[in-house]
Amino acid sequence: MSLSGKAKVAAVIGWPVSHSLSPRLHGFWLERAGIDGTYIPLAVAPENIHDAIRALPKLGLRGANVTVPHKEAALQAADHATDRARRMGAANTLVVNADGSITADNTDGYGFLENLRSGAPDWTAAAGPAVVLGAGGAARGVICALLEAGVPAIRLLNRTRARAEALAADLARHFPAQPIEVGEWEQRETLLAGSALLVNTTTQGMHGQPALELSLAALPPSAVVTDIVYVPLLTPLLEQAKQRGHVIVDGLGMLLHQARPGFTAWFGSEPIVDEALRSHMLGFVGR
Ligand code: ATR
Repeated sequence: MSLSGKAKVAAVIGWPVSHSLSPRLHGFWLERAGIDGTYIPLAVAPENIHDAIRALPKLGLRGANVTVPHKEAALQAADHATDRARRMGAANTLVVNADGSITADNTDGYGFLENLRSGAPDWTAAAGPAVVLGAGGAARGVICALLEAGVPAIRLLNRTRARAEALAADLARHFPAQPIEVGEWEQRETLLAGSALLVNTTTQGMHGQPALELSLAALPPSAVVTDIVYVPLLTPLLEQAKQRGHVIVDGLGMLLHQARPGFTAWFGSEPIVDEALRSHMLGFVGR
C-alpha cells in the first residue's frame, strides 16, 4: 500500500545490509495487517554507527533492527537496555521511546525459544540437560534463553575449547545455579547420552560448508534436535535426526520469531508466524 505522511518508519541497520531478509519479513507483516508503515534497509559503515543510532529519534523513526557488525555498538549507543541485551553484550532491536530515548533489546534467544516451543511443543526445559555445539554469538543467545527457561544444565562443546571455556565462565556470572559444563569436541558423540535437547549453532551443515561430523547413536530417542542453520532448511544433522525418529526443529523460525517484539513495539500490532510467512520467506532464502 502507499504511505501517508503519518506512516510509521522502522529500519534494519547493517554493513553490508543487502543480504538482510528482515525487510521481506516486516514488509510481509505490514502488508498483511494493512499498516501505514514501512521498514527500510540502512547501510551504515562502522565509523558512523553511533551517529546513525543517535539520529533515529531525530528522524522520527520508531526504531530499528541491528545486524552484523553493529550489535555491540548498538547496545553502547542506546540510553537503556533490557536485562537480556545486557547479558548478551549486544542488541538486535532498538526501540525509540515516547521521550525520544532509545532502549536496546536482544530478541535472538527469545526467537530461538519461541521457535523451539512451536516446533517441539512437548519439549520442556525441565526434561534434562541441553547439548550446545558452538561457542559464537549465536551460542550465547541460545544458552541464555535455555537457562532463562529453566534448563537444568548445559553441555557446551566447541572445536576451539578455550572459546567455550570463556563463554561458560562469562555466563556463569548470570546463571550461578545452572552449570555450563564444557566438554571435549572429540568426545561430542558420547556426551550426547542423557541429554534432552541438541542444538547446533556452528556453521557446519550450512550450504557451502561440510556437514557436521556427528553420529546421534548415543542421543536418547526422546531428545529434540534443532539447528540454527536454515540454508538448507533440512541440514544433514536434521536429516539424520529425522531418520532416527527425533522431533526436529529447523532454523528458519528463529529468524521469524526474533522479529516479533520489534514489530509489535514499532507498529503497534502483534504479528504472527505461520505457514504463509514461512513460504513467503523461503522464496527469498538463497541456496
Ligand atoms: P556466530 O557468532 O554466528 O555464532 P561464529 O562466531 O563465527 O558465528 O561461530 C561459528 C561457530 O562455528 C564456532 O563455534 C566455530 O568453532 P570455533 O570457535 O572453533 O571456530 C564453529 N565452527 C566453524 N567451523 C567449524 C568446523 N569446521 N568444525 C567445527 N566447528 C566449526
